[in-house]
Amino acid sequence: MRVAMIGTGYVGLVSGTCFAEFGINVTCIDNDEGKINKLLNGEIPIFEPGLDVLVKRQTAAGRLKFTTDLKEGIAGAKAIFIAVGTPARREDGHADLSYVYQAAKEVAPLLNDYTVIVTKSTVPVGTAREVERIIREENPAAEFDVASNPEFLREGAAIEDFMRPDRVVIGTDSERAQDVMRQVYRPLYINETPIVMVAPETSELIKYASNAFLATKITFINEIANLCEKTGANVQQVSKAMGLDGRIGGKFLHAGPGYGGSCFPKDTLALAQIGIKHNAPQTIVEQVITANKNRQEDMAKRIIAAFDGDVKGKTIGILGVSFKPNTDDVRDAPSLVVVPLLQKAGATVKAYDPEAREQAEKHFQNVAWQNNAYDVADGADALVILTEWNEFRALSLQEIKEKMNQPLLLDFRNIYTDAEVKAKGFRYISIGRQEIRPDECAVLKAAV
Ligand code: UDX
Repeated sequence: MRVAMIGTGYVGLVSGTCFAEFGINVTCIDNDEGKINKLLNGEIPIFEPGLDVLVKRQTAAGRLKFTTDLKEGIAGAKAIFIAVGTPARREDGHADLSYVYQAAKEVAPLLNDYTVIVTKSTVPVGTAREVERIIREENPAAEFDVASNPEFLREGAAIEDFMRPDRVVIGTDSERAQDVMRQVYRPLYINETPIVMVAPETSELIKYASNAFLATKITFINEIANLCEKTGANVQQVSKAMGLDGRIGGKFLHAGPGYGGSCFPKDTLALAQIGIKHNAPQTIVEQVITANKNRQEDMAKRIIAAFDGDVKGKTIGILGVSFKPNTDDVRDAPSLVVVPLLQKAGATVKAYDPEAREQAEKHFQNVAWQNNAYDVADGADALVILTEWNEFRALSLQEIKEKMNQPLLLDFRNIYTDAEVKAKGFRYISIGRQEIRPDECAVLKAAV
């Protein structure tokens, strides 16, 4: 069995590599020569734990190949996956499908034997049919079917998510295409992973609905956290108890600084647009988009409020700039909103992230980058945890406190507890749990 993967971004590279692990011969194709050259030299252009080992193994086994040559790459492939980017268009939030359609156009004249063209990028309802129409128009004689096969992997856990998914969704009307897709996913099929066979439109909507629902869940708990802060309730206990209800489930109920990343922001925007286009407005999702934008800005306001509204001349240390741990991705990360707002308000910003500095440097100016959390704390008036990297979970608070100008910790991921931070004499501001007031803090400091 041979398949081709067009696009070597997160989804394309992880999917291609994992298919090779399934025993399939995979050729990954990208028109970015720099990317392909890197891959041919064994370098992985993205940070994804475990991916380098698999790429090396599968390349050595001869099952995973990389090329910029589309014709060579798709030769003999039973299925051709389109996994190119679909960025949100800046003007209106619509998913930009030009790369998907371009790939379909280029593939069409090269088709020989029966092939399934699979859209793996997250694409609006109707895209698979449009891809079909484009190929048919370009090459009326081609023997092919189209299938939608959305990917649900999370960055940082992508391999595990691909190898052990909760479900595989395949959208096609053709039984012949279904058979090919069953062969592609054979190891999972045998493992009794639920394989959901639906129409292309349904498959496309499943992806958007899933991501928008998860983004809604996070936004819901973030607003509950605000209420907890006002009422003295504890959001972690609220989400724990809510999650124990099997109908709700405990996942994606961690309150934080707002969701970011390459999917939720883009997919919620796209779903809202699809709703408007089809005259079925997704008003909840529209509200989620606004609430999340406000939330990221609120994080900066909280930091400034901790200084009674004036951070001029203060040094703020930021721990973590990626949108979540185990990735170097900063797309729509809270840090992109928080850091510039702090600087605008007159603060000096120091920062450290275990992986995302290079990506973040493209967005930030005048940030003093450090090599570890302790150097960030050195001379800082506040330390802010924006991303819950494991190495931030067990910091020596004593050492941090000694280095800081004043012991103020803002923990926007709730990775510490009130009691432990309090015991070290810090003023501690977390999410959805009561702030320790400055007067209380003074008492505590005296007690330490
Ligand atoms: C997401 C989906 O989970 C995945 O199925 C889809 O294919 C792509 O989008 P990803 O963006 O990699 O994956 O990360 P995810 O772990 O879902 O986190 C997204 C954002 O939500 C992050 O900013 C994270 O910090 C935030 N989040 C997540 C919370 O704030 N609270 C939570 O409880 C969970």
